[in-house]
Amino acid sequence: MEERLVFSKSKDDKTNQQIDMERIPNHIAIIMDGNGRWAQKRHLPRVAGHKQGMQTVKKITIAASELGVKVLSLYAFSTENWKRPSSEVSYLMQLPVRFFSTFVPDLIKHNVKVMVMGDITQLPEATQEAVQNAIKDTADCNGMILNFALNYGSRDEITQATKQIVAEVKAGKLNIDDVDEDTINNHLMSKQLGEFADPDLLIRTSGEERISNFMLWQIAYSELEFVSEHWPDFDGESLKKAIASFQRRHRRFGGLQNQ
Ligand code: IPE
Ligand code: IPE
Ligand code: MG
Repeated sequence: MEERLVFSKSKDDKTNQQIDMERIPNHIAIIMDGNGRWAQKRHLPRVAGHKQGMQTVKKITIAASELGVKVLSLYAFSTENWKRPSSEVSYLMQLPVRFFSTFVPDLIKHNVKVMVMGDITQLPEATQEAVQNAIKDTADCNGMILNFALNYGSRDEITQATKQIVAEVKAGKLNIDDVDEDTINNHLMSKQLGEFADPDLLIRTSGEERISNFMLWQIAYSELEFVSEHWPDFDGESLKKAIASFQRRHRRFGGLQNQ
């Protein structure tokens, strides 16, 4: 056991973080927040923060994959982010094109499979194409799943699932008494993540402590970690620190600790 412990220096408190490689969370979900504030602090336009944030996505994807994470879900664009100025929205829509055009070979090298949650049909043609190609090009990878939430909103997801279930009941394909939690799970966009649909650890950067419509159903028993760093400043050490914090928690799922 001893040799499976990894030590890492934490940037914030300079103490050594001890990570148990046998207890890495299977599914880590991240609300990548603070790009705009990161840029503003440097007197740069907000989009400079999104550009730098893309580099963080690359770094954290590799770091998570090397730690043995099974699913990394990244909240990239919410159903509410359309409210932003159109210039910022257009920039955000171009990012997947840039990201995948440079990063797919690395994803394949690390055996990472790309998946997407959200209504991508509403995205510009070029963005849809970049996403579809990345999904196709990494379809044979069987390592970590990199699950992007793009034009994703949990209330929208639950609404769509409800509509599908009602339609099945109406069509006589489903008995109303058979509707249970698994029925809901099987109609959510996270169904494609199989046994790892529910995040074990949810991290939000930038100091905000809210969920902002992300995976509401799936995080029922996730451990929540709110960190002060803005997303562009988040790095492999920050990830290890969050995992170390996760490993100090006692998950009870409504039961008792020593059951
Ligand atoms: C997160 O950073 C990226 C997206 C939501 C697309 P923000 O753009 O929300 O940055 P802040 O929160 O305004 O600093
Ligand atoms: C949540 O961040 C969405 C993403 C990270 C994509 P926001 O910046 O949009 O959330 P609020 O508006 O601060 O709640
Ligand atoms: Mg924000």
